[in-house]
Amino acid sequence: MADTERHPFLHGLSKHRGAPPTVVVIFGASGDLTARKLIPAVYNLGFDNLLPADFYLVGYGRKPIPDDEFRALASDAIKEFSRRELNADVWSRIASRTSYVAGGYDEKAAFDKLAAHIDDLEKQLGRDVQRLFYISTPPSVFTPILQNLGASGLAAKHLGQPLHSKVIIEKPFGKDLASARALNETIRSVFEENQVYRIDHYLGKETVQDLLVQRFANAIFEPLWNRNFIDSVQITVAEEVGVGTRGGYYEQAGCLRDMIQNHTMQLLALTAMEPPVTLDAEAIRDEKVKLLKAIQPLDPRAGGDVARAQYAAGMMAGKAVKGYLQEDGISPQSGTETYAAMRLSINNWRWQGVPFYLRSGKCMARRVSEIAINFKCPPGTLFAAGQKFDLAANTLSFQIQPDEGLSLILNTKVPGLETRTQPVKMSFRYATTFGSNTPEAYERLVLDAMIGDGTLFIRGDEALASWTLCTPVLEAWAKAGRAGMDSYAAGSWGPPTSDALLAKNDHVWRQP
Ligand code: BG6
Repeated sequence: MADTERHPFLHGLSKHRGAPPTVVVIFGASGDLTARKLIPAVYNLGFDNLLPADFYLVGYGRKPIPDDEFRALASDAIKEFSRRELNADVWSRIASRTSYVAGGYDEKAAFDKLAAHIDDLEKQLGRDVQRLFYISTPPSVFTPILQNLGASGLAAKHLGQPLHSKVIIEKPFGKDLASARALNETIRSVFEENQVYRIDHYLGKETVQDLLVQRFANAIFEPLWNRNFIDSVQITVAEEVGVGTRGGYYEQAGCLRDMIQNHTMQLLALTAMEPPVTLDAEAIRDEKVKLLKAIQPLDPRAGGDVARAQYAAGMMAGKAVKGYLQEDGISPQSGTETYAAMRLSINNWRWQGVPFYLRSGKCMARRVSEIAINFKCPPGTLFAAGQKFDLAANTLSFQIQPDEGLSLILNTKVPGLETRTQPVKMSFRYATTFGSNTPEAYERLVLDAMIGDGTLFIRGDEALASWTLCTPVLEAWAKAGRAGMDSYAAGSWGPPTSDALLAKNDHVWRQP
């Protein structure tokens, strides 16, 4: 049964957001992300009838794979990773238009072969299609791919016409300010900015998109959304998983690059930005950039605005877990952080004096991403905290995942013949109201890129604004090596130095 039939709240939602005829080319087609996220996303868009009638999927990778084998790998990926079971009809429609091209990323001739393959598809179809290139490879080959898309004429194809080529670029978008700048320059030498879709998959999450709706479609929040009423804001992106088999990548990245610079900063920008003048991609991204630029430079010294740590051996869900330094592929002297936290000051009219705390880590007590807005306490003239009055500051929290929803902590009278108070939690849960078959972030993002809506993608200047803030911290940490690296037991909520960041302002981390 279609979701709209099951859930009355979904009635009236557009089933056809109008993607034009498209060929999606995935670079890195035999990679992990393709199997786990991209193929299932394409399949679910097909299931929901959101792919254009003229849709083609082309895998591109170094490994020679016959078309049939690539289709079989794709259907295995759907069986293993899709949120819906494989439906033979839906898949056979997509599979009949799925093919594979083998070639190196630095081989111009292979890109010419790809261009000829797409020209053939257009000839068979008897019309042009837009070309959407999805770069889902390790970052070391981003540049040759971009250059060869330029050299083979694929980047400029149909430029100035509605079916122009587009490119989606996966993270990591650079490893610091200089490399992000260089990558932007390479991109701009080949593509125009409106052809470029830089991915941050957090922006595709339903609850992250809902932040805009909650903030700007409800009149009650905006008057309170400032330094007069808000005491502090905490943004947590905690993971239960450790580095697993990704040690090689993670050693080069660390938590600040992997999670804070992108996902957590995006949550911050959407929470704190000014209302955009319209819901256009550019209007929203202008506000996010303004906000990121208003954040004061961070003091990276010990006791300053940042904390970093590695997980040590601990217990998770009743099982003993190794420490980071004992994980496969990790140097015993590693200076890579698996946890990072920071205290930010935003120097604008709305937020001056309100601390924003950000934290993210692996192997933490619970998987949870949330944004908690802590309001100021009312004057204690009537109800002062004490024996009879158990009082809490009002906290509005957006739970991004899991158990997506929104809750508000309020103080309430306990029923009885005397006046006692107790904090209670008022909650809204998406699953209860709308059902739980929420689209995966990648479905929304692939569809938006096909349609040409860049709202949920990062603009080049946005990426740079975030790197401008993070790079001095990364440089200071690289210089310090392991000096100043704290640790936390796997399965805990993080290290003492992170608590100390908040203690300076008499705050404590919430336990979400
Ligand atoms: C990725 C990081 O961007 O996000 C991973 O590279 C992390 O290290 C993942 O595990 C978390 O994403 P999600 O959607 O599971 O919260």
